[in-house]
Amino acid sequence: MKKLMGKTLIASMPGSEDIGEKIALALNAAHAVLETKIFPDGESYVRYPIDPGKYDMVIVVQRAYPEQDRRLIKALLAAHAARDLGAKEIHVVLPYLPYARQDRRFREGEVISLKAVLELFRGIGVKSIVAVDVHKPEAFHIENLRCINVEPFREYARAIREVVSGGDVVLLSPDLGSYWRVRKIAEALNVPFDHLEKSRDRVTGEITIRPKEIDVKGKFVFIIDDIIATGSTIAEAARILRSRGAAGIGVIATHCLMLGDAEAKLKSAGVEPIICSNTIPTAYSRIDVSGIIAEALKSTL
Ligand code: R5P
Repeated sequence: MKKLMGKTLIASMPGSEDIGEKIALALNAAHAVLETKIFPDGESYVRYPIDPGKYDMVIVVQRAYPEQDRRLIKALLAAHAARDLGAKEIHVVLPYLPYARQDRRFREGEVISLKAVLELFRGIGVKSIVAVDVHKPEAFHIENLRCINVEPFREYARAIREVVSGGDVVLLSPDLGSYWRVRKIAEALNVPFDHLEKSRDRVTGEITIRPKEIDVKGKFVFIIDDIIATGSTIAEAARILRSRGAAGIGVIATHCLMLGDAEAKLKSAGVEPIICSNTIPTAYSRIDVSGIIAEALKSTL
């Protein structure tokens, strides 16, 4: 903790200054918002408005969605510039970690994108990457780069209790992949939990959820997932739950990409409330992750 006092600079990329400022306050660190622009040919530019070389530690904060490719490049440029200008240690906070879902070779010849992204940061000397609720935490790991996954589950438990203070609530994972998330939150709340079985066509992206006997009759079901992208997973799960007699269906997801007509799909499937974190700012971002990121930085750096 001592190291973090005074000699730390939180370097926020534009669009991430709300999170960066709160982290800086919590860590008693300096805060600067970097200048960025796009050259006429489409290349990215980054500039520190103050000298990062005066700091022992520079923590770059970048919300890497939307425009994942561009924002990742900007974060890499910012980390590189900090090192080049003499900062002793560089860490990067990517509240939403792009490319995390391509964490293995599903089909022959594919890139393992997550590994490629992490290796790029490690290659320029970044010491750690902090991300929130990474798709598969066990895949968020490479040698010589500290990969810190921050779990917002305590906050989710609190949000669930605000909506359903007493009464019958069941937590549900739309697939086996998020079951561990649901189990952690359900155990904290001491409520029942279950999962559905989802499969996705790797080529078309189409999802199928197999209906399953599950006791939700008359109960309020909260579906918990890491990502809402097209909204198909949650809408399909809600349809199945409704047909099993659920009294209400809500969703909590960490990263709400809300692509295309995702919101309309969720609404017409009767999903209410929709609760998201602010790793990606949306109209549903009720859970602020700045505090838990700051806690993770305090306890691990
Ligand atoms: C996949 O395994 C993730 O956990 C989410 O369930 C998925 O990304 C949601 O995608 P969509 O909203 O497009 O169904």
